[in-house]
Formats: sequence, C-alpha cells, structure tokens
Amino acid sequence: VKKGAAPLGVFDSGVGGLTVVAAIRSAFPGENLLYLGDTARVPYGGRSQETIVRYSREISGALLQREARALVVACNTASALALETLQAEVACPLLGVVSPGAAAAVAATRNGRIGIIGTRATIRSHAYDLAIQAIKPGCAIYSVEAPLLVPLIEEGLIEDPLTDQAIHRYLQPMLEQEIDTLVLACTHYPLLGLAIQRCVGPCVRLVNSADNTAKELARLLPDEPRIPSSSDQGKLKILLTDPPGPFLEIALRELQLSPDSIEIIPADALAG
Ligand code: DGL
Repeated sequence: VKKGAAPLGVFDSGVGGLTVVAAIRSAFPGENLLYLGDTARVPYGGRSQETIVRYSREISGALLQREARALVVACNTASALALETLQAEVACPLLGVVSPGAAAAVAATRNGRIGIIGTRATIRSHAYDLAIQAIKPGCAIYSVEAPLLVPLIEEGLIEDPLTDQAIHRYLQPMLEQEIDTLVLACTHYPLLGLAIQRCVGPCVRLVNSADNTAKELARLLPDEPRIPSSSDQGKLKILLTDPPGPFLEIALRELQLSPDSIEIIPADALAG
C-alpha cells in the first residue's frame, strides 16, 4: 500500500456509523475510508461490556490487517465501553466519538444544563457524563436510554408519527429540566435531527458527535500526507459481517454517500 493511500478505518455495530463517515468524508475528501459495520451482531446497545470489548477488538484487528493507519470508533456504544481497552492495545492513532461529542456539548451550552440520549449501554456507562464533567465540572446532566429509536430508524420511520411519539416520550422529562443542549449520543440519531429539533424547539441546540469527531481527527493526523497523487484516493470501501438490510440504502441515500465496494466478511472470520 502506498503511503498516503492507506485508509482510515472506521467501525460501527452496523451501518448507522455512516453518519460519521459522511462527516469525515466532507472534512477529508481525499482520504480512502475503510468502514466496517458489524451487521451480523448489531445492535450492541443492549449487550454487556465484555461482549462489546470482544467485538471491538476483533473488528480493530481486521481493519489493521487491511492496512488502516488510524481507527475511528464511530459507534457510541463501543466508544463508551471499549475505547479504553483498545487504547491500551492498539498502536495506531485511535479516536472514539464520546470525547468529541462531550466537547461539542460543553461548547454549545449556555446554561450548563445538558441532555444526553443514547443506547442503554452508553447511558449506563456514564461515559458522556464523565467526559463532560472532566471538561466543565458542575454541568447538570440529564440522560435517558432511548432503545426504541434505533429500530424505528432502521425501519425507515424517519418522518413518522410513531417516531415523533417515541422522541417526545423520551425527551419530555429533560425538557422540563430546562436543558439547552442535547447530545445525540448514538450513530443513528443524526438521521432524526429534524424530528428531534421539532420536539425540543428552537432554543435547544442539538450536538452531533459525528461533526466534531471529524474535526478532532484533523488534530490527530495533523501533518500526514492526505492526497496521494493518483486516482487511488477518496475511495469508500464498506465491509459488513452480514448482508445488509434495507437500512443501508436509507442511510446511503440520506447521507449522500456512494461506496466504491461493499464486501461481506463473516464475523467469525474477523478474529483470525
Ligand atoms: N451504533 C450504536 C451506537 O452508536 C447504535 C446501534 C447499536 O445499538 O448497536 O450506540
């Protein structure tokens, strides 16, 4: 692999992490991106830390084997539960979405009252709360597990009364706490940006980890050659552990991404 053409590896429990790919793609149009979505084992959001660490380790190994020169953990659940372990084990630059998301929340809030929605595992890990408090102690944080949103999005119910109702049910209690910033702490939620903004009203700022992760990546890879001088640049390769369901098409359309290839590699072939 030519220097400069080695890809950035990005992974997620499924295809929701393409929201992060879209942000990286617009910040670094010349980079080759290698995305791995663990579609055979999604969702991670209700799984134990031990399992999430094991899956994340297998996927990181597979991406490094394919010459990834840096790794982005696009999955909030894997970032919250496995990043520390990976940090100790992986030699290349490694970035998760929690600290960029936390930094964006602190930058956005004016009254110090921040809401967080995410999967059950992410919320119970308190990773976002800790990351926010580390930057700005004394923030009031209101977090809620929102397990119904991922399946609603994967069913394509992006603009739908049922989804609006679920959003309202989850967010009403934190709106009563007068949050002024809401962290969308899950890969999928940026796709519900309009519906969530409608529910919370114009005074609550939505913070999206994806955009800030792309900015953070620029700091992590400051002086590397980004644009190889050949046509071998700006490629997006997608690896999946199971054939994709309809959500892949929805995500690609919503995010205006067109992959150069999609390959299926079974999850049990990742570890070896
Ligand atoms: N990718 C996960 C996250 O960002 C959402 C889907 C899942 O539960 O695996 O938390």
